[in-house]
Amino acid sequence: MKLDKRLMAVAELVSDCATLADIGSDHAYLPAYLLLENKIKRAIVCDVNRGPLENGENTCRTAGIHDKCDFRLGSGLSVLEENEADVITMCGMGGELMTNLLSEKVNVAGSAKFLILQPQSAYDMLREFLYDNNFGVIDERIIKDRHLYYRIILASSDADAVKDDFLYPSLLAERKDETYREFLMFRLKLNEDIISKISSASDKTEEISSLRKENERIKGVLKYYEDKRDN
Ligand SMILES: C[S@@+](CC[C@H](N)C(=O)[O-])C[C@H]1O[C@@H](n2cnc3c(N)ncnc32)[C@H](O)[C@@H]1O
Repeated sequence: MKLDKRLMAVAELVSDCATLADIGSDHAYLPAYLLLENKIKRAIVCDVNRGPLENGENTCRTAGIHDKCDFRLGSGLSVLEENEADVITMCGMGGELMTNLLSEKVNVAGSAKFLILQPQSAYDMLREFLYDNNFGVIDERIIKDRHLYYRIILASSDADAVKDDFLYPSLLAERKDETYREFLMFRLKLNEDIISKISSASDKTEEISSLRKENERIKGVLKYYEDKRDN
């Protein structure tokens, strides 16, 4: 089984574990891959919609790993008990939805050793939720696939929650991650283009001011790269 670049980056963050629960699993490609690679012993494949859950069952049956999987129909973490999963993954959903699902069952989220989250949007909202609820971010990744950037967070309630910029945190800059630098430059330019397009509109002053502030934060993170290069 081959995963795309995004799910492969998620798979690389999974350390060997007994049980992984994949929320919003659809085809169950991620848990199936991890079972076939012997990185996990069991998988709980979860989805709120019957069609995607059946897709997941088909994938696992075809791959001959059906007996190592539970299939659960329901929303978010409501289908899990505390301590049932060592690792919980949530990928390819909006960050706001993920934040809501985690906050509805924060006890279940906190009972897992690791959360691996790949939001499609509202990255800062999710990071803020993790910080406010004492989940520390242990690691993160950014990858680019077919012109889109994807960000992945590895978090744990056992790790210290450290305050950082929720949208543009510094870990990847400290590591001199080249894709993150490219992403920051992309966002800087995007914001500058928006500012120049709306600069003459009198009702856009707040938006312009907020974009300018965001760009100052981006420049602050980019400065890490310059400083590292100089050292
Ligand atoms: C875009 S797919 C992502 C599939 C896979 N995780 C991936 O990253 O490729 C999103 C999946 O989340 C499911 N989903 C949406 N809301 C959900 C919820 N509240 N609880 C569980 N699953 C949900 C959808 O049915 C769908 O199968």
